[in-house]
Amino acid sequence: MCSVLTRIRPIHRAVALSLRLGANTEGSSYAATQSRRLSPGKNSVVDLQRNARFYCSRMAKTEGLLFRQLFEVESSTYTYLLADTNTREAIIIDPVLETIDRDLSLIEELGLKLILAVNTHCHADHITSSGLMKKRIAGLKSAISKFSGASADILLSEGDKIRFGKHYLTVRETPGHTDGCTTFVSADESMAFTGDALLIRGCGRTDFQQGSPERLYKSIHEVIFQLPEDCLLYPAHDYKGQTVTTVGEERKHNPRLTKKLEEFVKIMDNLNLPKPKKIDIAVPANLLCGLQD
Ligand SMILES: [Fe+2]
Repeated sequence: MCSVLTRIRPIHRAVALSLRLGANTEGSSYAATQSRRLSPGKNSVVDLQRNARFYCSRMAKTEGLLFRQLFEVESSTYTYLLADTNTREAIIIDPVLETIDRDLSLIEELGLKLILAVNTHCHADHITSSGLMKKRIAGLKSAISKFSGASADILLSEGDKIRFGKHYLTVRETPGHTDGCTTFVSADESMAFTGDALLIRGCGRTDFQQGSPERLYKSIHEVIFQLPEDCLLYPAHDYKGQTVTTVGEERKHNPRLTKKLEEFVKIMDNLNLPKPKKIDIAVPANLLCGLQD
């Protein structure tokens, strides 16, 4: 077993962007669905934005933890970099192919040793850079849920711990958007990375890739909403420029998850979202860690 990962028994308790540049294809809030899609107009704007770094104003409170929230414009994906400030061991969550150079140069600038590239699930809207990163960083491992159907060095299960230096994230299985969706929870439960299970005032869509609104509702209520009220939640996407939320906020204000199950299912079954543009290339590529021969 890889040294960055240990298995434990399941734990049962467990720069605001103003432009909406990416298509809302993973299922966000009503407001985002209805909001006007702003066209970047010129490719140069997208090119400029693509390599920009957007740092979240709210940093993790955990001592000795380096944390960065990075944004990829085309798919509105957040990538997260976490590291131990003493040992410099680092992990990256949901890295995107288009921003691999930006991410690797930041890692180099900060003097970090990247040991793991982990995906919250098999993405449909973008290609992961984890496979290409493995080619560029000696010894780097990849990880994803064992239920994702994707290949990786480490297949994650409920309760696994992803270790970097003195820190770790606990793997919580939160299926529903896909079978292999996972949420990663910090050791002190001050922050969690929810992938596409829970988005800010929204949630991941359930109309493809083994999607099931019933399972998603259960995952969110029985896993994510059981975390402490002030636990910071970091999603895999946002289409409105929001960067972070909390368990308490979503329990109170999420327009879908505050509904009863039956109503939630009805909402999810009637979203009528367009298919993600890249789904036909992204899913096959992501099943192979982002690499296709
Ligand atoms: Fe997704």
